[in-house]
Amino acid sequence: MRERIEKLKAKLAEDLKSTSDLKELENLRVRYLGKKGEITLLMRRMGEVSAEERPLLGKLLNELKKNAERSFVDKRGEFENKHSADRWEKERIDVTLPGRSFSIGGKHPVTLVLEEIEEIFTSMGFKIAEGPDVELDYYNFEALNMPREHPARDMQDSFYINPEVLLRTHTSPVEVRTMEAQAPELPVRIISPGKVYRRDDDVTHSPMFHQVEGLVVDRGITLADLKGTLLLFVREMFGKDREIRLRPSFFPFTEPSAEVDISCIVCNGKGCRVCGGTGWLEILGSGMSHPHVLRVSGYNPEEVTGYAFGMGVERIAMLKYGIEDIRLFYTNDLRMLSQC
Ligand code: PHE
Repeated sequence: MRERIEKLKAKLAEDLKSTSDLKELENLRVRYLGKKGEITLLMRRMGEVSAEERPLLGKLLNELKKNAERSFVDKRGEFENKHSADRWEKERIDVTLPGRSFSIGGKHPVTLVLEEIEEIFTSMGFKIAEGPDVELDYYNFEALNMPREHPARDMQDSFYINPEVLLRTHTSPVEVRTMEAQAPELPVRIISPGKVYRRDDDVTHSPMFHQVEGLVVDRGITLADLKGTLLLFVREMFGKDREIRLRPSFFPFTEPSAEVDISCIVCNGKGCRVCGGTGWLEILGSGMSHPHVLRVSGYNPEEVTGYAFGMGVERIAMLKYGIEDIRLFYTNDLRMLSQC
């Protein structure tokens, strides 16, 4: 028995030396200390030993077991340390490597221009108002002095959802909605940016595009206020050398009405391909609020007057960035978008 204990001790020492990883170590532990392990089996056989020998052999065997347990724990620690040292070596961070660069994207040119327009007008005291894209026929046409069968509706022949509801064809309905909500308080001084929808599709027209509406209502508002405000806007947007001209036009909801042109930003008014040789570029529609519009919105046209304007945001972005096809705004080609 004593010999067997000594042999086992020597064998264990050798086996421990030749294990090379945690898995092998665990197998070895089971082989010695598991339920059917060699040391365990030997301890079970202590009953066969004579009474005189038992205390000494018991002590030796217990020592063997204790030492074996400690050896396994030590060896396990060794392997674990080595494992994390290896990992550290393999995955070490090289702080001298250049950093990874990633692009953070940018704003769409329509958004950039919209924000610029908003900035210019809010700095002049305008508030921002919004209205729904899905609009009632009443606000889109009727309240704006375009009753059913009015020929002006044809120009905006549009997306109807039912006879009373459509995708708005312009931002002008927000004029009426804003006045209705605010009347009789003065002044009304808002711009209204947003999407509009028309049955149009060519190089300069898209079925969805953006407009910014403007409306000022107060006592004693005149065409001079409209012209002065727009001149200031145009010079902020396109440079301080720009001139504007008002050309007589027609809108059912303004009287008188005017198209506003700016002196061509390419040739400065001399005449070129961009302005078709005229020296002028049309940028928006405007006019003095029609009495009908003021009246249905809760204001007395005998007491107050107002002006309104509406501009196409894509049109302004096209002029500003020299883009010739409106569809480039919606095809998400980064080669184009990242230039703005
Ligand atoms: N709503 C008009 C359009 O879309 C533009 C406009 C707005 C004209 C306000 C006059 C006053 O064509």
